[in-house]
Amino acid sequence: MGGDLGRKPAAHLYSYTREGFAGARTNVPRAGYSPSYTRIEGEYAPRRFDIAELFPPDARSFPVAILRGDGIVLEATRHAAAMDFAIRNVVADEVHYVVSGNARLETDFGAMDVRYGDFVLVPRAVAWRYVGIGDPVLALTAACEGALAVAPDPSAVLNTALDVDEPVPFADATPGDYEVLVRHRGGTTSYFYKFDPLGGQAPRGAASVRRFNIESAKGLGVAFGGIPPGRLIDDAAGRCLFYHLSSRRSDRPPIHCNADYDEIIVYAGGPGAYGGLTVPGTVAWTPKGIAHHGAEEDVAVPYQAWLLETRADLSMTEAGRSVARLMETGEYAIHPSDG
Ligand SMILES: [Fe+2]
Repeated sequence: MGGDLGRKPAAHLYSYTREGFAGARTNVPRAGYSPSYTRIEGEYAPRRFDIAELFPPDARSFPVAILRGDGIVLEATRHAAAMDFAIRNVVADEVHYVVSGNARLETDFGAMDVRYGDFVLVPRAVAWRYVGIGDPVLALTAACEGALAVAPDPSAVLNTALDVDEPVPFADATPGDYEVLVRHRGGTTSYFYKFDPLGGQAPRGAASVRRFNIESAKGLGVAFGGIPPGRLIDDAAGRCLFYHLSSRRSDRPPIHCNADYDEIIVYAGGPGAYGGLTVPGTVAWTPKGIAHHGAEEDVAVPYQAWLLETRADLSMTEAGRSVARLMETGEYAIHPSDG
């Protein structure tokens, strides 16, 4: 039997990787295209979620979780009208990613006008609310229990001096009945005030809300070969890592098995597609240990996308399951077996 090995050239290189982009790997040439499974039996499977399908047009703007794991929740939110309450998450730091729409985001530390492509880091226990809605806002929120920071690596991915900003002070003296809904491990508890508990005069300090736009991130290209995507956001424990995944000059990623991280790819926008992903806000989730490839990044028509890697073992919520489609892991299209 051993004499048969090597007679037929292996067509595909399968790469087994440890520690995400940072660890050791072993490459195995093999004839079969590893991502190409024909069907599954069981629950542990790659899925796609079109988050716009979650919401009726007049839905209340409370976040809806689609994926959840130890220390992380991925949620979707639609804001069609100004929120009449603020949210203070005392469990996790949050990254709000604006899929579409525009609005004013008011926080404990000031306000900012947000739009397509904005990543807003809201530290744990900082209150926020979307008001001044222009086009309805569709947002994805990754709530991670580690302390998140804008931490580009390599530094060329994002110019933090020019392209990262903080909210500007606002103070609304209008008396009224204001609600802050505290999200905690036991659920939610609402606090009520006769004054606006958000905003203020001129915050000073380093622990603030920070924002950058995906269009400010630089796609790291190389003339020959391929390189990993650039990191945008990190947490102190290395459990949740955010990468820029937009089109660029780089070889197609290897067929690989990520042993230590679940991967979530979010298609941000075109004009081009990222493989089988064409609708902004589509989430492509590959659980750890499942072979996948990923689309060609060096494309004629550019696109924007990003990647979240987490050590947590994610699973779908009921809402997530309601819009989930089985996904093939070559180019992240809907799997042929998902009718
Ligand atoms: Fe991967």
